[in-house]
Amino acid sequence: MSNSELHDKIEDLRRRFGADLTIVGHHYQSDEVIRHCDLRGDSLELARRCAQIDSRFIMFCGVYFMAESAALLAQDGVQVHLPEPSAECSMALMSPPDLMRRIMTLLTRSGRRVIPLAYVNSTLGVKAVTGALGGSVCTSANARKMLDWALRQGDAALFLPDKNLGQNTADLLGLPENERFVLRLRGGGADVDPKAADKARLLLWPGFCSIHTRFNTQQIRRMRAEYPQARILVHPECVPEVVNAADEAGSTSFIIRYVHEAPTDATLAIGTEINLVERLALEQTGRLKILPLVESACTHMAQTTEEILCAALEALVPVLEKGEDSPYRVNIDTELEAPARAALERMLTVCG
Ligand code: 13P
Repeated sequence: MSNSELHDKIEDLRRRFGADLTIVGHHYQSDEVIRHCDLRGDSLELARRCAQIDSRFIMFCGVYFMAESAALLAQDGVQVHLPEPSAECSMALMSPPDLMRRIMTLLTRSGRRVIPLAYVNSTLGVKAVTGALGGSVCTSANARKMLDWALRQGDAALFLPDKNLGQNTADLLGLPENERFVLRLRGGGADVDPKAADKARLLLWPGFCSIHTRFNTQQIRRMRAEYPQARILVHPECVPEVVNAADEAGSTSFIIRYVHEAPTDATLAIGTEINLVERLALEQTGRLKILPLVESACTHMAQTTEEILCAALEALVPVLEKGEDSPYRVNIDTELEAPARAALERMLTVCG
């Protein structure tokens, strides 16, 4: 099928479903996919908006943890489907729930109250452990507010899985370096020194985003040499050295807002996922010069192609017409559902 046939087929299917279907997409999706979405947003916006959708089906163009969050927050009777169920987030997989539980036991052995704060890029199991232990989820857009909240709930907070977002957020809060402790998880936690951990207020899981850790200070130096007038913006999943060397750091929604508010003729170099950077560059042609700090693509996000979206929509037809099940549906483990939802709802409550 040619590209335009594929495009038209998806649009025909959208018309056929009408108000029964909402297609949502994260900003990191490709243009060919995002053009079919009714809603697009960053992790926080999509979590909030999906909770308000009242169509029968949400087709979520993104990675697994995002669709899972949408399914947890969706209204009763709304089904969430993911066009590519194997589209995982490698950072989310860096914190297995069993290991998290073991580490929490270790960190609280002395009687300290440690509040887990799980970045939304985490598995359902991690969100469930977090919710059960009085913790919350956060996204990059509200990490500062949520870390401040977590630190005030107990003696310490465990931030997971993204060490870099944790460190950058701690910098924003002015938390001294000597009050932070990066856990070493080799040996399933046997390497963690509980006495050293007991002295810290912020415990950091050693996970990272492979897309954002591709950015480095050398690229920033090169960019500044070539475009001295450029403002450099990066996502806070970048390592702290990069965040400190950049002019601004913020979540996807922050970056988009910054671009929209930038004065005409400004030059911006952006360190985040390439689909978003290229889309912004195209949108702003003639007004702003937008350059990628370096091209860094999320291969997991790229798994959702127009072809794959089309197949998932076709599989939705018998669900709509005959009440059949679809392999694309995101099903939530019933045992994990309530605590994981509690962790997400805590974030929405704290952040309003
Ligand atoms: P946002 O919270 O900015 O949407 O980031 C999502 C993400 O997965 C970044 O790697």
